[in-house]
Amino acid sequence: MKNFISFWGAIMLVSAGLLLSACQTNDQTNGVTSEDDIAYDELYRPQFHFTPAQNWINDPNGLVYHDGEYHLFYQYNPFGDQWGHMSWGHAVSTDLMHWEELDVALQEEDGIMIFSGSAVVDKQNTSGLGAEENPPMVAIYTGHHDSEENPKQDQRIAYSTDNGRSWTKYEGNPVIDEEMENFRDPKVIWHEETEKWIMVVALPTEYKVRFYSSDNLIDWKMESEFGPAGGTGGIWECPDLFKLPVDGHDGESRWVLQVDMNPGAVAGGSGGQYFVGDFDGSEFTESEETKGETLWVDYGKDFYAVQSYSNIPDGRRIWLAWMNNWNYAGEIPTNPWRGAMTIPRKVGLMSTDEGPRLTQKTVDELNTIAGEAQQFENITISDGLFTDENLEGTTYKIEAEIQLNDAERVGFNLRKGDEEQTVVGYDVRAEELFVDRRNSGEVSFHEDFAAEIQTAPLRLNKNILTLEILVDRSSVEVFSGKGDRSITNRIFPSESSNGIEIFSEGGAAEVVNLGFRELQSTWSNSQ
Ligand code: FRU
Repeated sequence: MKNFISFWGAIMLVSAGLLLSACQTNDQTNGVTSEDDIAYDELYRPQFHFTPAQNWINDPNGLVYHDGEYHLFYQYNPFGDQWGHMSWGHAVSTDLMHWEELDVALQEEDGIMIFSGSAVVDKQNTSGLGAEENPPMVAIYTGHHDSEENPKQDQRIAYSTDNGRSWTKYEGNPVIDEEMENFRDPKVIWHEETEKWIMVVALPTEYKVRFYSSDNLIDWKMESEFGPAGGTGGIWECPDLFKLPVDGHDGESRWVLQVDMNPGAVAGGSGGQYFVGDFDGSEFTESEETKGETLWVDYGKDFYAVQSYSNIPDGRRIWLAWMNNWNYAGEIPTNPWRGAMTIPRKVGLMSTDEGPRLTQKTVDELNTIAGEAQQFENITISDGLFTDENLEGTTYKIEAEIQLNDAERVGFNLRKGDEEQTVVGYDVRAEELFVDRRNSGEVSFHEDFAAEIQTAPLRLNKNILTLEILVDRSSVEVFSGKGDRSITNRIFPSESSNGIEIFSEGGAAEVVNLGFRELQSTWSNSQ
């Protein structure tokens, strides 16, 4: 409890202090007034990941599909590049790749900040806030009362009847007030079986989530609580809840409860864990097969506050996360913006001997920005390096299948320059996938950033390593072939560090197949 209070306290003090200078920095050195003035071509500007033109972002919020558009709201400080004045920024996309930033959707007001939450399309107009012919989009968010005498978090709603272009805060807010200081991040879903809205919301300092139900998004009834369970080394935030078919078949489905934790996650600092089980509209029951274990969503250092989309018509479960870590989020060396989202990922459940486990794969839409594949086949590397003049770049995707033979370590030196590289590889003895960014470029802004290698346990089938790797100007995301492991890390290399080497150590490995495809910038005003 104490830790947590001092966490927000510290953030607020720092942000209050930095706000003024941040505003001045933006005004004086950039003269930026809108995203139209931004070339999206700065040294560390992600080319195919969402970033705001300027200012601070953290968690994705209100992810909802409506009338041909994917909406992405996010925790946003309209006034600077540090956390503070939290509001919901807003962007839309028709293909999950190209984003158009719109006006701020929900502004801080009367000392109440707009903390994280979700959004739904109220198709039957159960709330009465729109009309059946024109169903309202309803955002459900936490009101954070920025007051020393009465610090409080409550749940609120706002609605839009013009495709999210303008929002009205509900006049009867808050819709849930339990007089609690730590009570936040409501994710609302439509529960088909009971025909009710269900909210899952975090009780961070109790390591619990709570479920509420409602017929109309306005009147909420508490149903039950889940936790403490799994990882409790840090506060619980940003829960999500959804049902998924196991192995993609309609026959067997399970519920997934995702909960973020900060600090104490697998790679240190912030990260996400999940539980598999059943949800009956009132209670979440964890499956016996996963009980007692902590299951991590991603093994990298920069994957937090993931949220899945509501209302996607083709039935896919797609989510994306804030690609950052509270340990150093305020210090990453980017300007005039700070914070980025991960690539949208399709989530699945796969059966294993230990029970159902989560999988993540990049969405197919990624192929629409991919150039022609350079293919390599049957290349044997005997305790050494392989390079090719066609293998270089700063924004690309690699898909590889490597037969390990008697190699002890295999992998890729990426974003390689004279003095730096990011290593993505597999350690045979440890049975671990790893990303080593200790010498990846600019790492000095925080001691924690390059302190360790990030690893994920990975058992291979027939000694074959299959990987998909996405590299952008300031990130690397690695997925195992089945998608059961991912490692997401920010990196800050020099622009000229564009080399790619494939290595095998301690013995020979054969690259059976490798596809390299450049990924185009998704910013229309990029140069
Ligand atoms: C998670 C979080 C949420 C909160 C938001 C505030 O990163 O701490 O719990 O709603 O950020 O910006």
